[in-house]
Parts: sequence; structure tokens; C-alpha cells
Amino acid sequence: MKDLNKNLSNAKSSSSTTTGWKVGSSTMAKTTFNPIRNILETMDLAPNPKKEMISLSIGDPTVFGNLKPSQVIIDAVSASVQSGKNNGYGPSTGFVPARKAVAEHVSVPGAEIDENDVILCSGCSCALDLCISALANPGQNIMVPRPGFPLYTTLAKGLGIETKEYDLIPEQNWEVDLTHMESQIDQNTVAILVNNPSNPCGSVFNKDHLKKILAIAERHYLPIIADEIYDYFVFPGQEYIPIASLTSSVPVLSCGGLTKRFLVPGWRMGWITIHDRNSVFAAEVRKGLQCLSQRIIGSNTIVQGALPTILKNTPKAFFDDTIDVIQKNAELAFSKLSTIPGLKPVMPSGAMYMMVGIDRSIFPEFENDLEIVETMVKEQSVFCLPGKCFNIKDYVRIVLTVPGESMIEACDRIAEFCHKHAKYSSSIPKGLMAMSEGSSTASDMSSSSASNSSDEEDLHMRQNQLYRKPTNISTSGFLRKESTATRLA
Ligand SMILES: Cc1ncc(COP(=O)(O)O)c(C=O)c1O
Repeated sequence: MKDLNKNLSNAKSSSSTTTGWKVGSSTMAKTTFNPIRNILETMDLAPNPKKEMISLSIGDPTVFGNLKPSQVIIDAVSASVQSGKNNGYGPSTGFVPARKAVAEHVSVPGAEIDENDVILCSGCSCALDLCISALANPGQNIMVPRPGFPLYTTLAKGLGIETKEYDLIPEQNWEVDLTHMESQIDQNTVAILVNNPSNPCGSVFNKDHLKKILAIAERHYLPIIADEIYDYFVFPGQEYIPIASLTSSVPVLSCGGLTKRFLVPGWRMGWITIHDRNSVFAAEVRKGLQCLSQRIIGSNTIVQGALPTILKNTPKAFFDDTIDVIQKNAELAFSKLSTIPGLKPVMPSGAMYMMVGIDRSIFPEFENDLEIVETMVKEQSVFCLPGKCFNIKDYVRIVLTVPGESMIEACDRIAEFCHKHAKYSSSIPKGLMAMSEGSSTASDMSSSSASNSSDEEDLHMRQNQLYRKPTNISTSGFLRKESTATRLA
């Protein structure tokens, strides 16, 4: 007790010596806002104590323990550690054998690249950061998908770079609204970001559609930043086509990594591959990327040492097994959620997510999807991410990497929640099995998009309110310690 008092009085006197200090944070720090991380790290709601938590929120395939990395890659990293050769700094762009392995991994016949076209990064996020930083100046803009992975805007905004959204169309398997995309390009646009397969939609673009996107890029002389972190992560019968393989004129910076398909997000191994058959990037962008890589002084060398083995030797059966789990969950969730009044799931074709539309006319007591998500946590201990995180209203995103029995349980609880809260107007007969077709059109989406700053402020504000609420789960409960969910598995 004496010590405590002493510490407190020391704290008091040291705080008086700090008077006069005014240390503010940078504009970059103040303008950096990541909606997913914000909600995961600060959302502090008490789930229903009678129900174990099932978190369908974070795109981390490792949290439930049902999906494990291949033994081949664990052995490769162990060997890399044991060799003692990979403890020092590497070149800023990465060791040559590791870059060579990535070049081979992403090359397709007719669109081959080599190690000089590869920059290793600390995860795909870092790759995206470097690409955006290399192509855009403050005041310029980059086209991004809506709904889309929010990190693009998080990274750009911090750098004073704007993002302009182009709509995806749910009724067309989330293909790009090409007319809308082209209409949004202006004299300050410097690149089009294409995410295929998509987070949050789980959609996979076909060749014809990718070519149409490339045609727009070509007409406007805009390079593509391709976020291909879910490369080859597609259901049987679907085809993943690297966008760079379809063009010899449009320069492409593709961002990828081990994170998702190899089930090791924490290893932080990502890359940029430069596809530039026309040498558009030769004058400046290549050098720019190299200079920017010197800010991060290279990526994790232990994983670099293992990369050639990881990329060459991971058995196909491993990938097939993962996809099988996700596809089964997708089919299960789709069939169950399609029968719930007011919900309209959109069946994915790959990646690990499903978007579920919400007809709010059936849930009038809720003002937005965030309120639905919050109430569902409180009542059913099921946590999905609100559409707001992806810049779209009236949707939630569910993660499909959970064990099958948790998926079933989660869907049953979502059904219970919807039945409890659904209100039927006279024009909507009770027993309506799903949200009416076409009630969420592209134009509805663009008019209802959550892109304006007041919505972002609203999300900020609500998170701050949540943060202050008394709770019985930790603030990081949704992010990493999926203990209740894991126990369910
Ligand atoms: C579309 C997309 N791009 C990039 C990333 C970031 O990947 P990484 O964890 O390798 O930084 C994610 C992670 O969820 C993602 O979904």
C-alpha cells in the first residue's frame, strides 16, 4: 500500500513536470482509420452468457483450429530456422531464391516474369501500401471496389490520397458495374484497384469480365493494382485468372502472399509482382517501388528462406481440403440463410466469405446493419462484420472458415434472431422466405453506400460508445482469443 501511494505521488509530480509539453500526432496518424481492425479491437459488447461465442468476423483462417497449415511448410520454416542462414538482413526486395520462387509461382504461359519483377513485403497489406505509395501523390485518387476491403482507403487516406468507389453488382455475382467504374474516373485518377477473388464478396471474375476491366484501364491509360491475395482460392468449377495474364499493354502491379491460401496470416509474407510487358513502369515506378522497399528493409528472412520449398512442395491435396471445408460451409450457410425472412445471402465462388443482404424493411427497429450486428452479439453471441466496414449498407459479411458444426449453430441462431425481430407489413406476407429478388440493386447500393464521412464518423462514434460500455469480454475478444468459438469447435 505504501509503495502504491509512493508510485501515485511520483506519478503526480512527474505529470506536473510535463506541463508545457504539447506533442500532437501527425495528420497521417489522425487520418488513419481501419474499420475492421477498429471494430475487432474496440468492440466491447457482452455476448449472451448462455451461448458460446461464435465469431464469424475476422478473415483469419487459423482462429478456430480446424484449418492448419501443411506440415510441408512448417518443416520448411523449421529447416530455415535450423540452418542459421536466415537470421540476418536480406536485400530490401528479398533474397533472390525467394523472389525466383514467387516469379515461378505467379507466372503463367505467355506472361512469365522473373526475380527482378518481384518485391517481397511484410504481408499483402504492405505490398498494397507500397503500390499505392508508388503510384499516387496526395490529392490524386485510386479507384476501389464497393463493397471492398477497407484497407485500400485506410492506406490511401493516411497518405492524403483519395479513393473513388466503383460499384459491384450483387445480382451479377458482384461483377463490376463497368459503366459506373468508367464514370468515376477523373483527371486525378492514377490507378484502378481490382480485387479478385474478392473480400468481402467471395466472387471470382471470369476472363471476359476481366478483359472489360482492362479495356477501361487501357482507354484511360491507368495501371491496375491487382489485389490477388486469394489467388487460386476458388471452388471447383471456377477459374482464377491472374489479370496480368490477359494484357500485354496495361501495366499491372499484383499483390499476393502466403496469408490466406497457405493458412499463415501471422507469417507476414507478401509480395508485389510487376507485370509490364510494355515497359510503362520502366521510367519511374520500378525504381520508386525499389526505393519504397528500402523503408521496410526487407521482409521476414526466416520465411524467405523457406519460400522456395513452400511454393513448390505444398501438396495440391492441402489446398483442395481447405477449399472443400469452405465450399461446404458456403453451401450450408447459403441454403439455411436463404430460407430466413429478410435475408438474402449471395453465394460465393471462392475466397472465404459470404455477403448476406438484409431487408431492413423487415427489421424496422434497427437503424443500420451495425445495430443488427451488435444486437445479434448480445442476444445470440454470433458476431458478423457489418456492411459498413466494407462501405455498403444493409449487408453483413460472414466468414466461412469455421468448423461445420459451428456454421450450423451460427445459422440456426441467426434464424432465431431474425424470426424474433422480423416485422411484416401487410404487403409482405408472413412466411416470406427471403428478401425479394432485386431489392438490392446496384443503384440502391450506390445510393445507400456507406462511403460518406458522416457514416464513417458514425462508426467511429459508435465504436467509442461501445468502448466505454461495461462489459464482460475483453476488447481483444473478437480479434484473437476466439476461445469460446474454439471451444465450440
Ligand atoms: C483482399 C485482401 N487484401 C489484402 C489483405 C491483407 O493481407 P495480409 O494479411 O497478407 O497483409 C487481406 C486480408 O484480409 C484481404 O482480405
